[in-house]
Amino acid sequence: MGISLHFANMMTDAIGEVHGITDEELDGLKARGKAIDRDLRERRKAGELPFYELPYQKSEVRNILKKVKKIQDKYDNFVVLGIGGSALGAKALHLALSHPQHNLLPKGKRKDALRLFVADNIDPEGFKALLDIIDPKKTVFNVVSKSGGTAEIIAQFLVVIDLLKKRLGRKMYKNYIIATTDPKKGALREIANREGFLGFSVPEGVGGRFSVFTPVGLLPAAAAGIDIEELLAGAAYMDKQCQVDDLREKPAYIAAALQYLADVNKGKAISVIMPYADRLSGVGDWYCQLWAESLGKRYSRDNEVVNVGQTPVKAIGVTDQHSQLQLYLEGPYNKVVIFIVPKKYKKEVKIPPAYEDIEAVNYLGGHTLNALIKAEQEATELALTKNNRPNWKILLPEINPFSVGQLLYFFEVQTVYAGGLYNINPLDQPGVEEGKRITYRMMGREGF
Ligand code: PA5
Repeated sequence: MGISLHFANMMTDAIGEVHGITDEELDGLKARGKAIDRDLRERRKAGELPFYELPYQKSEVRNILKKVKKIQDKYDNFVVLGIGGSALGAKALHLALSHPQHNLLPKGKRKDALRLFVADNIDPEGFKALLDIIDPKKTVFNVVSKSGGTAEIIAQFLVVIDLLKKRLGRKMYKNYIIATTDPKKGALREIANREGFLGFSVPEGVGGRFSVFTPVGLLPAAAAGIDIEELLAGAAYMDKQCQVDDLREKPAYIAAALQYLADVNKGKAISVIMPYADRLSGVGDWYCQLWAESLGKRYSRDNEVVNVGQTPVKAIGVTDQHSQLQLYLEGPYNKVVIFIVPKKYKKEVKIPPAYEDIEAVNYLGGHTLNALIKAEQEATELALTKNNRPNWKILLPEINPFSVGQLLYFFEVQTVYAGGLYNINPLDQPGVEEGKRITYRMMGREGF
């Protein structure tokens, strides 16, 4: 039931000395690794890294499930207004764990689950198109902003509230808005309190990209019918795996060390995440934000200019075998490929035999799409390895809330530990904040 990590293809035995990592290199990180581990444990204990504890918030989960029941009774659609960390977690969970055509299923087939839409942009055409297809009278809008003031989210909110006032009247509109934001601070919290919106809190000290296990990700997921208790059980299971004392037994730490060594010692500045499942495409986007925004930093913890960080890229297996793979096999030696592979898919599709006199078609007959996708993944892995291209793999028993909970928690712990190896703060995002401030000024906000 646990996900498993396979990293032999990162090592010299598989891909040679120029590109592979040696046991000595891994062991060389031991002393620093222990110090980072100690620091993370102490800060966790002191409550400075609250994301670690999110799998265990029983009362918040009860609260969400209770409220979701009422929301499901009243509405058909749940729309998340957000951007970046306030949107990507919900999107990843929905894509991974809902029926692939969830929003198109008739209500009866969705049981009580709401249709879920995540507006992760302010493209006028995209946003307007979303508003065109939902009936505001049957829709609840969840405004999600940790800071409570991000321009894109507040702008989405202002457009929606104007629509609701016009369509539902100046009293009723309040019932159609939920605010998920800081418990005390920020413009959105002030508005939510003043208007009496139903509110959820993003716990203090949990930034957007680490918030998937807070109401930011859990509320939309539960509204769409996803089993959030199982999701958190998976995250808690991974937490236990990462609590063992031996650094080489902590899966998230090994993965961080390999990525770090590949980048710093072997020049692999690009990290390609390649799930072999359409359903995990959103997890790929979520990972890209987590890895990029957490590790891409100008300053070290000692205030030196370091300009570090690997560039994450998403590819989907097998689709991108016919697009990006050529580059990965023969282009510059600057990438690590991370495969995410379900051992089992929930459906099996047989390939019926036909045209048996044409061998180019005949050989497929009687197999399954499942066997074909497995062969293609293994072939890609082998081809990369033969060409001395580092790659590692996470195997999921299948894609379900428990395994996805493990996977997302694994990446969070990996990222925080990698932050220690790079000696940067993985929890801030000064570059994003700078962009926000420039936008405020350009849009005429006082004080910027
Ligand atoms: O991960 C992050 O910190 C960012 O992507 C934020 O989530 C994003 O900028 C939105 O910020 P906020 O939720 O504070 O409005």
